[in-house]
Amino acid sequence: MNASENTPVSVPELQKMLAGFSEQYKLRNGRRPLALVHSYGCQQNVSDGEKLKGKLSLIGFEFTDDPKEALLIIYNTCAVRENAEDRVFGNLGELKRLKEERPELIIGVCGCMAQQQHIADRIKSTYRQVDLVFGTFAYNDFYAMLWEVISNHKRIFNLSENHTDIDEDFIQLRDDKIRAFVPVMYGCNNFCTYCIVPYVRGRERSRKPEAVEAEVRKLVSGGYKEIVLLGQNVNSYSYGFPELLRRINSIEGEFRIRFMSSHPKDATEELIDTILQCDKVCKHLHLPIQSGCDRILKLMNRKYTVSDYMKIIDYARSKAPEFSFTTDLIVGFPGETYDEFCETKNIINQVKYDNIYSFVYSRRSGTRAAELEDNISDKQKGLWLRELLLEQREITSRWLARFVGKTVTVLAEGEGRTAEGYLAGKNDENIIVEFEGGRELIGKFIQVRITKAMNWALEGKLVCE
Ligand code: SAM
Ligand code: SF4
Ligand code: F3S
Repeated sequence: MNASENTPVSVPELQKMLAGFSEQYKLRNGRRPLALVHSYGCQQNVSDGEKLKGKLSLIGFEFTDDPKEALLIIYNTCAVRENAEDRVFGNLGELKRLKEERPELIIGVCGCMAQQQHIADRIKSTYRQVDLVFGTFAYNDFYAMLWEVISNHKRIFNLSENHTDIDEDFIQLRDDKIRAFVPVMYGCNNFCTYCIVPYVRGRERSRKPEAVEAEVRKLVSGGYKEIVLLGQNVNSYSYGFPELLRRINSIEGEFRIRFMSSHPKDATEELIDTILQCDKVCKHLHLPIQSGCDRILKLMNRKYTVSDYMKIIDYARSKAPEFSFTTDLIVGFPGETYDEFCETKNIINQVKYDNIYSFVYSRRSGTRAAELEDNISDKQKGLWLRELLLEQREITSRWLARFVGKTVTVLAEGEGRTAEGYLAGKNDENIIVEFEGGRELIGKFIQVRITKAMNWALEGKLVCE
């Protein structure tokens, strides 16, 4: 049967056809077909990758990390910086030989990078080993596309755009058993001048609060201990983000709520009050400032000034002095001077972040900043970045000391780095805490007395009850 013939084939029919293919494959090979789905980029992308795995599991695929044994390899890509794209092209190049050895191998590229026409064109002409390219709007067509590749050996390129629909009918195959990502909105309307996300993820669409609540209830009853609500700018969640936080907070069970990201232009005192009033919501805000210089913020189209930003920090700290902030920063925006970069260094000292995620500016074709003159070399920008990170290291060790001597609640997540027998987890402020303890504690909330602040984490001792 051909899924592209005039009468469209329904999703359940396609599912049946593909499940039949998996059965046949198993009869021939003695095992189910294996898929390798690798997601690059942000948590939103990881969450999309988990949905794709859910779709594959429904048609009888199992999973592997080894490209050599996979029948299907899908790279779920990120376009935010050039080096993210270069990595994917490098990895695709390496798959060429594998495809020559095993022509039945199916290679797919999806996600943010694949949503860009110039990338699809490059793959079409230069990476002929790739069978399937689809962007961030095409997940609903996944079965039809896969069937075309399997049954008709066609190369498929699907860059369709649908800025309205939200698919609520999905299952997600999550790798993590403690923390679950739950998107509450998709897309972005902000068009920061450096950023490709609005072009590859489309306009903002919010999930209904009842759909988010139902998903969280299921996760909590399935044993998940940390729920991370996701959106490019959760503060513009169209049904009210503080209300959503309260709704999720009222679900019974022992779990934590985190969320990201918050755009400073929409971060309100009400949001801070809600965080502080909701016992399950972590006392931490990831609030990307990008630059500490008003001229650069304006060029970035961020729609706030440094003083607007500081108002929200000061408000939170006036209510909760230990409140934790983390941020994203871009170094070397076109035209930025060293003095302007130093304003960014000043702001990280003023705010006292627990952690920063800093990046050298990367030119993204199609964005407004790509048109601006940029005469600082990448080498110079790299040196500025190093300077910033050294500064932050000092700030982190000084600022983390506020927890020494205190007992904090930690969700143990896995093995630690400090030494053999150490576990790592995070406290309410999203700070890594390492302590000696047995593996049976993983996935549990425990009390740890903090004994030491390092420049990347806290160290402590289990409090015996
Ligand atoms: N929506 C979030 C916000 O506005 O806070 C950020 C999402 S973006 C995927 C993550 C981070 O990547 C941004 O905060 C920014 O620091 C960085 N980023 C985005 N575009 C960039 C570019 N062209 N070059 C360097 N870093 C970039
Ligand atoms: Fe990109 Fe700005 Fe949207 Fe964040 S808010 S995703 S930085 S355009
Ligand atoms: Fe995320 Fe990268 Fe796309 S950061 S939204 S995967 S461009």
